Amino acid sequence: MDNKQISKAVIKRLPRYYRYLGELMQEGVERISSNELSEKMKVTASQIRQDLNNFGGFGQQGYGYNVSYLYNEIAKILGIDKQHNLIIIGAGNLGQAIANYANFERRGFMIKGMFDVNPRLIGMTVRGIEIYPIEQLESFIKENDVQIAALTIPKAKAEEMAEKLVSYGVKAIWNFAHTDLNLPKDVVVENVHLSESLMRLSYKVSNMDTGK
Ligand code: NAI
Repeated sequence: MDNKQISKAVIKRLPRYYRYLGELMQEGVERISSNELSEKMKVTASQIRQDLNNFGGFGQQGYGYNVSYLYNEIAKILGIDKQHNLIIIGAGNLGQAIANYANFERRGFMIKGMFDVNPRLIGMTVRGIEIYPIEQLESFIKENDVQIAALTIPKAKAEEMAEKLVSYGVKAIWNFAHTDLNLPKDVVVENVHLSESLMRLSYKVSNMDTGK
């Protein structure tokens, strides 16, 4: 299967399919039609069929989709059937909140450690995850096969830190700092900005037809 041919729009929708299928599995549902999935997810059945046809279509006429098969195939496409080692740079409010969330591990994202420049934080643990001094970053990344770094430091330091991380072998940055990172093309960056999401919400609520 060649993921390169799958459009970004489809990839963006896959985690949502994955979440719904996981819930169906927990409810003991073994198979589901695109119409039933459509009702649950509020996505048209044709969109679902179109999306899932990208992967050769896991459905069968008159049978629907095998929930656990589809769930596992989507996991493979998303690469979450494998373990990814992750570190957090910046053990402040946001870094600690991420470390406190146990569910990432269920998806195969193992938080191996946190790093900070504040000596008062060094040696502390958050849900068993230790905060290390930034001086240990390079050796830690190499010894722990770290692929992903979450950046939760002030934006003024983000670019410099991201470049360092890449030079130490990190392949993907989960960027929470409010700045766009200019990194080599073979480094993957996923920006997460809660305030941008809130602004979109603000736009929607401001432009709502209140019927008055
Ligand atoms: P905070 O001040 O509580 O934590 C920042 C931590 O980074 C501190 O512990 C500090 O010692 C450490 N730090 C500073 N420079 C560093 C460096 N060069 N290397 C390693 N550690 C360093 O701040 P908070 O609230 O946790 O926010 C962190 C960042 O995340 C900020 O840039 C903030 O704007 C951003 N943020 C982004 C959100 C989003 O939705 N994307 C939401 C909330 C915060």
